[in-house]
Amino acid sequence: MLVNGSTHRTVWSAAEGETVQIIDQSKLPWNFEIENLRCVSEVATAISEMHVRGAGCIGATAGYGMWLAAKKARGSDERLLESAHELIATRPTASNLTWAVERQLTKLRASPVDRWVAVAKQEAETIANEDAAWCQRIGEHGCKLIHEIASQKAPGEPVHILTHCNAGWLAFTDWGSATAPIYAAHRAGIPVHVWVDETRPRNQGARLTAWELMNEKVPHTVIVDNAGGHLMQHGMVDLVITGTDRTTYTGDVANKIGTYLKALAAHDNGIPFYVALPSSTFDWKMRDGVREIPIEERGGSEVSLMDGLAEDGSIQKVDLVNPGSPTANHAFDVTPARLVTGLITERGICAASEDGISRLYPPHERATQ
Ligand code: MRU
Repeated sequence: MLVNGSTHRTVWSAAEGETVQIIDQSKLPWNFEIENLRCVSEVATAISEMHVRGAGCIGATAGYGMWLAAKKARGSDERLLESAHELIATRPTASNLTWAVERQLTKLRASPVDRWVAVAKQEAETIANEDAAWCQRIGEHGCKLIHEIASQKAPGEPVHILTHCNAGWLAFTDWGSATAPIYAAHRAGIPVHVWVDETRPRNQGARLTAWELMNEKVPHTVIVDNAGGHLMQHGMVDLVITGTDRTTYTGDVANKIGTYLKALAAHDNGIPFYVALPSSTFDWKMRDGVREIPIEERGGSEVSLMDGLAEDGSIQKVDLVNPGSPTANHAFDVTPARLVTGLITERGICAASEDGISRLYPPHERATQ
């Protein structure tokens, strides 16, 4: 997608050389910096410190991480596995991470060891390209929903869509999940306006989603996390679309903390609440999201300290919380399937239920996504 008028992806292999390159999202929106990752440990650090984040982007970066792991392994399955575990341990909630690492392991174990590096690089590129293509298709399917709502409004009146956190192109390799239908609608000339939840504690909405939408010239307004319910009560939201970091085969959805509250408010106000995801985000083994999905707990400093741009142009951290008060930082919550109107996937839109998901993804096709 566009950054200052030119197209970018979030992660790629350097055209010359042997490194993985990422957009360092921890510096956005104030600085646009490309970071070079030279070894698997640097990839693991970039994921755990959230220089890259978002389910699809983490998965694609881990895919490239396994290319660097294949180099380090020099044919040893034990060393390869060590690196795989190092990558998987970085962030527990997003299923795309384990999915991408396991996909690489399967591919490499079926290949001669002297081909590992080439095979892993090719597979990393395939994972990244598929991620972009799937998100683009999510956009095409989701755009129909937006078009339907627009057709019930007065000509020119925008469809108001609320989103939480960043399920934009920065959270994938391109297009995004929740934002893909928005970008598709905007490019098709359907008037849209996006309510962007700021998304404490790290403010991925205020910092990243707003930055993306601004670059794509999509009308949007940043709101505090607690504003959504009020806007819904007053008819100012037509549709909610969020992303997800892990979705059970029964349709329960883990996403950034606060998503569940938006789903409750949408349900209370009769507003459609859709979740957009590529199939790499399904967890085909988990049935009960609330009980089974591992919820990452991050450091309390993300709650008590906040980054911001100071008047002198430097990025500074400020203290927000009473000194000495304990903090808790649960990074995700689970929205039960009963509150989700539908899932927007690369294969189409389905009910958030075992039956609905099985119609698009029959069990015998799941291993070969
Ligand atoms: O903690 P993050 O920034 O990795 O959280 C991920 C998210 O931005 C969301 O939960 C997102 O909506 C999921 S879509 C990939």
